[in-house]
Formats: sequence, C-alpha cells, structure tokens
Amino acid sequence: MDKMWAGRFEKALDKQADDFNSSIHFDSKMYKQDIRGSLEHALMLTTCGILNQTEYEKINEGLNSILDDLDSGALAFDMDAEDIHMFVEAELTKRIGDYGKKLHTARSRNDQVALDLRLYMRDEANKIINLLCELVCVVKDKAKENQDAIMPGYTHLQRAQPITFAHHLLAYCMMLLRDITRVQDALKRMNYSPLGSCALAGTTYPTNRDMVAKNLGFDGVCMNSIDGVSDRDYCIELEGAFSTIMMHLSRFSEEIILWSSWEFKFVELDDSYTTGSSIMPQKKNPDMAELVRGKTGRVYGDLMATLTMLKGIPLAYNKDMQEDKEAIFDATETVIKCLEVFIPMVKTMTPIKGNMYKAAGKGFINATDLADYLTKKGMPFRSAYKIVGTIVAECIRNDITLDQMSLEAYKKHSDLFENDLYEEISLESCVAKRISKGSTGYDSVKEQIAYVEEQLK
Ligand code: ARG
Repeated sequence: MDKMWAGRFEKALDKQADDFNSSIHFDSKMYKQDIRGSLEHALMLTTCGILNQTEYEKINEGLNSILDDLDSGALAFDMDAEDIHMFVEAELTKRIGDYGKKLHTARSRNDQVALDLRLYMRDEANKIINLLCELVCVVKDKAKENQDAIMPGYTHLQRAQPITFAHHLLAYCMMLLRDITRVQDALKRMNYSPLGSCALAGTTYPTNRDMVAKNLGFDGVCMNSIDGVSDRDYCIELEGAFSTIMMHLSRFSEEIILWSSWEFKFVELDDSYTTGSSIMPQKKNPDMAELVRGKTGRVYGDLMATLTMLKGIPLAYNKDMQEDKEAIFDATETVIKCLEVFIPMVKTMTPIKGNMYKAAGKGFINATDLADYLTKKGMPFRSAYKIVGTIVAECIRNDITLDQMSLEAYKKHSDLFENDLYEEISLESCVAKRISKGSTGYDSVKEQIAYVEEQLK
C-alpha cells in the first residue's frame, strides 16, 4: 500500500521494516478516542473558519459512519496500515474523497496520538478506580461480618499479639483507599489536552485549542507544544499507581495463600476460585491468588519499560515513544483482570474462625498483656517484660500456655500476681483492652469501618 508520506521517497518501505514500524495491532484499541478527537478537531476547525460547513458535514458524517462500522464489526482494521490514525484517515478519504484529506489540517500524528492515549487512559483509569471501590467495599463487608473473629497478629510471621480478622482486613481497605487517591491524583495532573501542539512547534492556523480541550472534558491545554507531544509522565504515574495496587494485591494474595494452607486453615476459598491437581486428588490450589501475585512482576516491568524508554530520548517526539502503549495497555489490562477475579474471590472466601482462635491460643501472644498487667500494678515495664520472658520459657519447658499455669507457679515469679491475671490475659480481653485509635479494639474497629464507609461515599 502507498504510504501517505510516500511523496518524498523513491523506494517503498521494506516489508519487514514496515511490519516492525506498524502499531495498528495494538493502537487500534484507541479507535473510539481517535475518532472522537478528530470529530472535535473538525468542529473546531470549522468554528475557526478553517473548514467550511460542507467540509465539516462530510467529515462528521464520514467519521461517524466509520465509528459505527467499527463498533458493529462491519469494518475491519487494515493490518497493513501504519497505525490507527493513518487507518481512520485513509478510510475517511475512501468514503468521502478529498474532503477526508482536509481533516489533518493544523494537526500532526504526534499530538493526535498524545491526545488519544490520554483519552483512552482516562477511561481505563476510571474503570480501575471503580473496581478498587468495589474491592474496598467487599473487604470492608467481610471485616464487618468478622469483628468477633480473634486471630494471631504476626510480625516476622511469628505470632505476636491477638487481633481480629476484621482489623487485619481493614488494613487492606486503607491501602486500597490510598491506591484510589493515587490514581485520582494522576488523573488530575494528566487532564490537559495536547491537541493543537501539532508536530512540536504549534501551527500557523488560527485554531482554538481551548475549545477542543473543553469539549473533550479536559481542564485546559498543555501549555507548551513541545511538552505536549513529548510528555508521557502520566503513563509513568499511572503505571506507578498500578504497580502499587498490584503490590498490595500481591501481599493480600500471599496471605490468602498462607491462610488457605492446611498449616493455617484460617480461610476456605470457594471452589469456583480454586483449581485441582492433575495427579494429587486431594489438592485445592489457590491459583487465582498465585496468579495475581505472579502478574505483579509484569506491571512493575511495564513501569520500568516506560521509564527506560523515555530516559534517553531528546525532545520532542521520537518513534521510541510508540512503545509507551503496549506497556501501559498491558499494565492496565493486568490490573483490571486481577481485580475482576480478586473481588469475587475475596467475597466468596469463608473465614474459619475456630482455627483462627485456636492459633491465637498458642504462641504466647498474650505475653505483652501479662507484662502490662504487672506494669499496671506498679512494676516498671522492663522488669515486667523480663519476668514474663522467664515465665514463657518455663511454660515452653512444661508444654503449657500462660492461662494453664497455676497462680501458685505465677507467685514464685512475683507477689503482684493475683487471680485476676487470667481474665487479663484472655484473648477476648486482650483485644477489648486495646483502646487506642486505630487499634484492634472492638470500638476502634467499628470506627475504622465507619471511616471506610465514609471514604467510599
Ligand atoms: N504510531 C505512532 C505512535 O504510536 C503515532 C505517532 C507517529 N508520529 C510520527 N511522527 N511518526 O507513536
């Protein structure tokens, strides 16, 4: 096929080079945005007296018919086209003749692609925000249902202090709420229209960039045309935000994988979100969680690819920048796909409170509370800490837990011990006594649930 820019050349582009150069197999994804941008561009050209009414009507009709035909499948993408922009323009010219050739007045593919990608990513980022809200809601509801489920809280994956399952889940709500604001922040900064930057230097036509920006829902225009066509900061910001989302989902996945193992059995995943083994009949594997954990690396890779692609290129547009799209499309699709299975997987996950409670009973996770007991009776914390350490060692030797040790045995360590110590170190009171803001205490957890619900509004 003859290239639009063939005029300057004597020889056609080599076939392999042509395939290498072509981006239609991935940028065709942006056809709606490309046509929407062109429609607004044509309207602006007409309003500014650069196109006449007939030209506008032809272009408008032609672009809308292409949009309809692509939507319905009546028109297929020409995989020999160089990119989506060339394809739409060539198709337009096929349909309306020379009128189609007027559309590219006061525009370049450089600002066109910059516009399309911003429009596309704005839609996708909003999809991701909606999915994140849905996930926060599901996790919050699970927390709400499990405010009484006591489990061991861990540090170093060693049992540390009793917490509730609700408190643990709410930690993820806080992370995911921050993730939402990270995407929102990026959206705010990227919501400026590059269209009208043209190739790099602007144009000699009396265009109205603000008009196009306004009609496309932007907060304004990119103020420097060189920056307008060269800026891909928003891709990096979004990929950074997506990487953080994946990191959070991956940590959550790791816990779900641990919790659903026989070693923990704190949760049972629904059959519809687990798989079997081809050889071991007993197996029920948490594949979805593992895949989410595994796919996190790809999204980090996409971020790295974009950062590295941009670091050495001079202003303004360079073809390297065509590589922005596959990376950000992959990151976007990965996050969306992961969220789409993660949400129902968590929703259908059943906590096994009995096992959580049993695990909380072992591992001396009430030892801090025992030390606090002595401290509240006047002993300095460090001394209390030391005594309790000795008591724990004694219990381990005798294979008993703190609540199984007799008062007589306790008294040998300190006169301050009385019968009320048993109540003090019960798991329920360990949780109930935690009254600081943000703690695992029952009231604090209620406050956290209310906070999450407020944020979701
Ligand atoms: N397909 C190109 C891209 O994605 C469009 C811009 C091409 N501009 C150019 N001057 N070759 O970056």
